[in-house]
Amino acid sequence: MGSFLNRRKFIQTGALAGAAGLLSPSLRAQSIDTSSSVIGKSKWDLDSPALCVDLDKMSQNIKGVHTALQGTGVGVRPHIKTHKCPAIAKMQMDAGAVGICAAKISESEVMLENGIKDVLMTGVNVTAPKIERAMALRKKHTGFIQAVDNPQNAKDLQDAAKAAGIIADVVVDIDVIKRSGVLPGEPALALAQMVDKMPNLRFRGILAYDGGVQHVKGFQNRKKKALKNFEPVVATYEKMKAAGLNMEIFSGGGTGTYNMMSNFPGFTDVQVGSYLFMDRQYMVIGGENNENEYDDFVPSLTVMTTIINTNHPGRLITDSGAKSLTINRPTAMVIGEPGFTYSAGSDEYGTIRFEESSRSYKVGDKLEVIIPHCDPVINLYDVMYGIRNDRVESVIPILARGKSQ
Ligand SMILES: Cc1ncc(COP(=O)(O)O)c(C=O)c1O
Repeated sequence: MGSFLNRRKFIQTGALAGAAGLLSPSLRAQSIDTSSSVIGKSKWDLDSPALCVDLDKMSQNIKGVHTALQGTGVGVRPHIKTHKCPAIAKMQMDAGAVGICAAKISESEVMLENGIKDVLMTGVNVTAPKIERAMALRKKHTGFIQAVDNPQNAKDLQDAAKAAGIIADVVVDIDVIKRSGVLPGEPALALAQMVDKMPNLRFRGILAYDGGVQHVKGFQNRKKKALKNFEPVVATYEKMKAAGLNMEIFSGGGTGTYNMMSNFPGFTDVQVGSYLFMDRQYMVIGGENNENEYDDFVPSLTVMTTIINTNHPGRLITDSGAKSLTINRPTAMVIGEPGFTYSAGSDEYGTIRFEESSRSYKVGDKLEVIIPHCDPVINLYDVMYGIRNDRVESVIPILARGKSQ
């Protein structure tokens, strides 16, 4: 057990430093799992199911969002709920992100404890244990900011910050999709002013995420809805600004709306998550220049799967079911086989049905699939393999995997 943990820690530390480009080539070699022989292997020889990220494609996406937003005044604060890897968060910071977002206190802890300095937690901490953890985290890491969306919670945060002997940084989350957030307008203004007056809280601005509009099909349709839905948020921002509040953060937007947010006065940064990897859910929404496929970003994340049964004509069984791909829709897509329909309904088995295939398949053959929805798939794996030119270059630990608290 001890040696397992040591090796694991070694891989994690090394992968983070390696991804950061901090290591010399010889040390970089140590950042890999030397007890396995995966480095240098073809991705087609990896045992499966194996989660793989094409490093060149991911870099293209990381750079792409910055290039697209250059000159708009809108920054990038990527949401790590998607990838859950400090090593990838470091790459995003190196590319010019203003900080990162995390959904949960446990994700925030993993990021801050692994070298990421600026974390905006977009979810609220309501239970006593989480509030305590949040204050302990803020005490240790000055770059930790948390969201609040109701007056009682603001009071609880104030009391806990006082008890911890700190001034905790807070943004007010504004409701867009009836999921989280204080109602826009007077309730939001009153909450912001309340936070602003609290001696142990520091009001830093607002966040508002329109999760409902991100996957709306058709760029113009999506933009029309995004602009309309955000009107009350913008009006609230104006009220807060007029009231003299500190509006240094006005954060929101996602992969489906990242290039629409500069329309809003005072908006500071987009919280893009899925843009890194893309997935079937995002590929179908259409972009500004291609209504059929959303190609602003390229799919970089795949799962390698093995065929384990071919007994029935027009049917292939794989080793990747719901526990490898989830049952999200649209279902996984086999690269190079447009006629395949993938069902991941069984826990451990995938079922492919087809009338036509590009070749004949036998037990043991590998397939590469694009995943339905990236965030929940990543949460199923301990590591993702960093692939370049089809070969394994690094093993990236998914340190916040399973961190749902
Ligand atoms: C609050 C918040 N911000 C940003 C994102 C990232 O969105 P996307 O993956 O669509 O870029 C999410 C995703 O669910 C979210 O909940």
